[in-house]
Amino acid sequence: SVYPNKDVASVQVAKRIAALIRSKQETGEPAVLGLATGATPVGVYEELVRLHREEGLSFRNVVTFNLDEYFPMPPTAPQSYVTFMNENLFDHIDIQRENIHIPDGTLAVEDVAAFCLNYEQQIEEYGGLDLQVLGIGRTGHVGFNEPGSAPNSGTRLVTLDDLTRRDASRDFGGKENVPTKAITMGIGTIFKAREIILMAWSGKKASIIKKAVEGDVSGEVPATYLQLADNVEFVLDEDAAAEL
Ligand code: GLP
Repeated sequence: SVYPNKDVASVQVAKRIAALIRSKQETGEPAVLGLATGATPVGVYEELVRLHREEGLSFRNVVTFNLDEYFPMPPTAPQSYVTFMNENLFDHIDIQRENIHIPDGTLAVEDVAAFCLNYEQQIEEYGGLDLQVLGIGRTGHVGFNEPGSAPNSGTRLVTLDDLTRRDASRDFGGKENVPTKAITMGIGTIFKAREIILMAWSGKKASIIKKAVEGDVSGEVPATYLQLADNVEFVLDEDAAAEL
């Protein structure tokens, strides 16, 4: 779907998440959400906080799994995705802390593989992701699945693309300070979600959105794999959709 601007689009996505949470509350089940970071989902989180404060939307039954985290990365660092999620969402809602899952940027390298396997298992134990929210990087990455990622990849340690590190350099005060690695859910992990929403705003994303939606399916642009799923919706503003 294409909306006139990101604010209208973000409210629509938040409404869908709220409807999912409420329908699960009726059956007493958890709503299992896959969440993303970056500038793109900020408006969705803002609207969810508003729905919590003004319309009593409760997150007591919500279980979350974030897509990714830089590696290494202490959770308390301003650039960590833990800090991002706390500031933009978790600190403002009634989610239970034990229901929040974010890849651990403090592990010893030799412990990462076991952590990643366990992350996948935990998602399975909750019955899988009901909804995965995605942004897209200018390399065509979803999560941190950079070019070269396999369609069946799972949660793992990856090396960040140079363009991704350049795009992140403002947050870190220079590219040299951006971690070279990250832990990310895989393309295969994302694909198992029952519903996937990829959001993109602004003309900066127009050319990668064209490739993702209309380009040949290839690991060179990992987001093209989403063309193979039938439960994916691209939610765009007019500028991001301009080249379609
Ligand atoms: C980071 C995140 C991605 C996100 C991308 C786009 O690399 N790991 O999940 O989609 O940035 O960021 P933004 O939304 O700020 O454009």
